[in-house]
Amino acid sequence: MGVFRAERDSLARLGALLRAANYRTVQLPILLELDTSGEAVLSDIGRFSLYHLGELSLIDDPAAVLFELFLLCGQVPERRWKLLAPELASLLTDLGLVRILPDGERRGTVAITEYRNGLFLSDRLFEHGPDGFTRDWPDGGCMPPHASSIELLRGFQRLDLPGQSFFDMGCGTGFLSQLADCGHPRVGADIGPRSVAYATANAVLNGVDARYVVGDCTTYTDTATYARIAFNAPDSATAFAFINTTLRGLLDSQGTAQVWFDTEITAADGSLNGLLRRVIHDPESWHLSPATDDSSPFTLSRDMVRERWLPPHSLLAVGRAERAAYLDALAERDVLEVQSVVLSMRAS
Ligand SMILES: C[S@@+](CC[C@H](N)C(=O)[O-])C[C@H]1O[C@@H](n2cnc3c(N)ncnc32)[C@H](O)[C@@H]1O
Repeated sequence: MGVFRAERDSLARLGALLRAANYRTVQLPILLELDTSGEAVLSDIGRFSLYHLGELSLIDDPAAVLFELFLLCGQVPERRWKLLAPELASLLTDLGLVRILPDGERRGTVAITEYRNGLFLSDRLFEHGPDGFTRDWPDGGCMPPHASSIELLRGFQRLDLPGQSFFDMGCGTGFLSQLADCGHPRVGADIGPRSVAYATANAVLNGVDARYVVGDCTTYTDTATYARIAFNAPDSATAFAFINTTLRGLLDSQGTAQVWFDTEITAADGSLNGLLRRVIHDPESWHLSPATDDSSPFTLSRDMVRERWLPPHSLLAVGRAERAAYLDALAERDVLEVQSVVLSMRAS
C-alpha cells in the first residue's frame, strides 16, 4: 500500500488536487440529479453503488471518475481516466492508490470518503466490477466512515468542543478526531494497526495535528487525561467493556465522553435505562445522558419489532431471507426494540 510510504508533501498535495477536482460527497447526487443528501449516500454506500454506478459511468466529469474509482468502488476505462488532471492522475498512480488492470482499466486500491471537507482513505468495503460485487476484506481492515460515524459526529454538535483536548477511541480512519472542532492534544487509538496507519496518513491529508497509536480499549493507558472522549464502538459489548475498564482513567474529572453503540432492549431490561443500569458498573458514579435517534438505519421501534417490519433503509439486515432470520432471532431473544444510542457520560 503505497500510501503508507508516501511523503507528507505528496499526501498534502493529493488533498489539494482532490478538492480542486470538486471531490465532495454532496457533489455526487448533484451529478446524478438525485434528491439525496451526502449523509444518505455515505450511510449505505453499497446500495448506492448497486443502483447508480452504471449511470455515473456515463457522466464525463473528473469528479464522476473519482467517485466511480474511490467511493462506489468501480473501475474506469482509459478514456475516462484521462478526464483527470494529469498531475492528479500521476500522483494517484505514484502513491499506489490505483492499479492498471490487464485490459487498461483503472481500479482504486483504497476508498476515499469526503465529508465536510475532510478526506479519509480507508480499505474498500467491496469491489463493484463488470461481474457484480466481490469482497476481499483484509484482516483488521479499516472501515470507511459510515452511518454510525456521522451519528456520533452529530452528537458532538450538542457539545461545546473548541479548545478541548480530544481522545478518539477506535479511531478507524480518524474521521471523528479530524472533524471535531477541538483543541490539543488530539489523540486516537485503535486495535487495528491498519486503522492507525490510515488515520495517520489522513491527518496529513487533512492538515490536522493528531497522533494515533495501536491500543485495545479495555487495556489502553495514557499519561494524559482528556476533556472529550469519543468511541464509535463496533458493538455494544465493546462499548460497555470500554466504559467499565479504561474510560474513567482517561477522562478529565470534568470531562465528557460520548459513546455510540447499537443495542437490543430485551423484555428483561424493559428500557434503555434498565439496560444501562444493569451493564454499567457503579452507574450512580456517572451522569448518563443517552440520546436515541428514531430515524437511524440502526433503530427498530417497538411497533416495527411487533409487526415484524424493517424499514427499507435499515442496515440491521439486508435481503429478504436475512431480514426474516433477523426478526426470528429478535423474537427468540425477547427483544422489544433496537436502539441507536449516543451515550454522553460525565463523572458525578
Ligand atoms: C465502527 S468503527 C469506528 C471507526 C471510526 N471511529 C469512525 O467513527 O468512523 C470501530 C473501530 O473500533 C476499532 N475497535 C474494535 N475493537 C476495539 C478495541 N477492543 N479497542 C480499540 N479499538 C477497537 C475497530 O478496529 C474500528 O476501527
